[in-house]
Amino acid sequence: MSDRFKDKVALVTGASSGIGRAIAKHFAAEGAQVVITGRREPELKAIADEIGGAALAVRADSSSLGDLDSLFATVTARYGRLDIVVPNAGVGWLTPLGQITEEDYEAIFGVNVKGAIFTVQKALPLLGAGASVILIGSALSAVGTPAFSVYAATKATLRSLVRNWAVDLKGTGIRVNIISPGPVATPALLGLGKPGQEQQTLEVFSKTVPLGRVAHPDEIAKIFAFVASEDASFMHGAEVFVDGGKAQV
Ligand SMILES: NC(=O)c1ccc[n+]([C@@H]2O[C@H](COP(=O)([O-])OP(=O)(O)OC[C@H]3O[C@@H](n4cnc5c(N)ncnc54)[C@H](OP(=O)(O)O)[C@@H]3O)[C@@H](O)[C@H]2O)c1
Repeated sequence: MSDRFKDKVALVTGASSGIGRAIAKHFAAEGAQVVITGRREPELKAIADEIGGAALAVRADSSSLGDLDSLFATVTARYGRLDIVVPNAGVGWLTPLGQITEEDYEAIFGVNVKGAIFTVQKALPLLGAGASVILIGSALSAVGTPAFSVYAATKATLRSLVRNWAVDLKGTGIRVNIISPGPVATPALLGLGKPGQEQQTLEVFSKTVPLGRVAHPDEIAKIFAFVASEDASFMHGAEVFVDGGKAQV
């Protein structure tokens, strides 16, 4: 492993599980101090223990502006700055048209869109030239999928935010991009299938991917590390698909 992120401070929200956990571990392995968040304290603490001294775990619900204020007060007091921000916290479930409820809308947009907007906005005073903000989209925003419209719309919204923020951030030296995975083997994906049928669920999703399989979270984390690093210094406003071809053919 390189030390690309030596002396860098990274915030990864929703890092108590799945892709966020893999991103946080990867950043730390390349030398970063990582601030990790989630709502479940025991899971969060377990990941912080795995990472060791380089991790600071802060319980925070990304859809709560009060929690985000406390999070950034803690980060400001501890580090005084951020170099990498990844608003990864996200939720999604099946919402067939005709059965979408106000609760579905509020909950999914509340974490995925409101959470991302205010995480980035509240992080801004801590960011300087060379900082990298990376949102997490989804291949599902670029294709039609039965019963996934609300979730897919949140990710399409994030893509639009990145285009607009790339303009808003002109002159700051702060880069903003979005990485859009295809299906990744995480508790969220496995939770879409029936309990005890994880293998069948993976097979169903694998059939939707030209590469014939779902991704491992580490395969996504490596791309986050690239886009966060100086190696991607001219990448701005872009969407990077890491989807095994799902939205490409
Ligand atoms: N898995 C896929 O196939 C896939 C594909 C494309 C994009 N994505 C995106 O990748 C991101 C991570 O998903 P995942 O698959 O890794 O799911 P996951 O394993 O369920 O992890 C989701 C993480 O988000 C956190 N979280 C959820 N709601 C939160 C909230 N209100 N505030 C703070 N943290 C919250 C969870 O922690 P707590 O429960 O402790 O809060 C958990 O750490 C999401 O944005 C998802 O949309 C996933």
